[in-house]
Amino acid sequence: MSDYETLLEFAISLAKQAGDIQLGYFRDKELSISTKQNDFDIVTAADKASEEIIRGGIRTTYPTHSILSEESGLTDIDASEYLWVVDPLDGTTNFSAGLPLFNVSIGLKHKGETVVGVVYAPYLGELFTAVKGRGAFLNGKRIHASDETRLSHSVIATGFPYDKAVNKDNNLDNVGRVLPQVRGLRRLGSAALDISYVAAGFMDGFWELALHEWDVCAATLIATEAGARVESLRPDRIVSIVVAPEGIFGQLRALLAPKPQNN
Ligand code: IPD
Ligand code: CA
Ligand code: CA
Repeated sequence: MSDYETLLEFAISLAKQAGDIQLGYFRDKELSISTKQNDFDIVTAADKASEEIIRGGIRTTYPTHSILSEESGLTDIDASEYLWVVDPLDGTTNFSAGLPLFNVSIGLKHKGETVVGVVYAPYLGELFTAVKGRGAFLNGKRIHASDETRLSHSVIATGFPYDKAVNKDNNLDNVGRVLPQVRGLRRLGSAALDISYVAAGFMDGFWELALHEWDVCAATLIATEAGARVESLRPDRIVSIVVAPEGIFGQLRALLAPKPQNN
């Protein structure tokens, strides 16, 4: 086993522990929901408990590694070559509403390059994994992005920023251009699953304007290892991306606007 594969197995075990915690809460236990930047941006007891078990596991086993996670931010270990990038619960709005599309997302960067990715959707029983240069897998079976080339036959997903009510640059302009051209447009509510589903060929493209590193780190490795193209969409947003197989990428990209002039 290479070092990266050992680290992948470790990341899978953390994701499964966090997934079990989430299943313990899902549609059952009191979630103690609190809001973050506004009413649309929430955190639950399950997000926090998942994050604690993942951070604790990394601290115990790899105390010299840095960690960036959504709820606690960056713990930077001086001169560490390794950075774990963790979304302890991606799809919290789905989760808190009782919808099954949520996941644990764990990526690992080595010297700035993502080398391991795990996206685990516990309720669905879907485990997406990748190690740099070794392909992408769903539940141990190799996956590939779709070979679709016709936009009119494609199923595309997107998502919306949490400041959608106050920022006119909220992606509705792009939706207006893409929707008439595609077979289906989806808003699944979990960026890591959106990207993983493009990797597996279940969807033919995804874009979103205002994500964070923890939403995309693991899933974009899975997508590139599955043969999808991943590019930044807008330099003025933190993490904005387009993900699609080669046959669709250019057609989708052409419909997605630069920052609107009147904003
Ligand atoms: C959110 C989800 C959602 C996306 C948001 C993300 P969270 O992550 O991935 O699909 O549209 O931009 O912030 O808050 O549930 O971890
Ligand atoms: Ca997220
Ligand atoms: Ca989250």
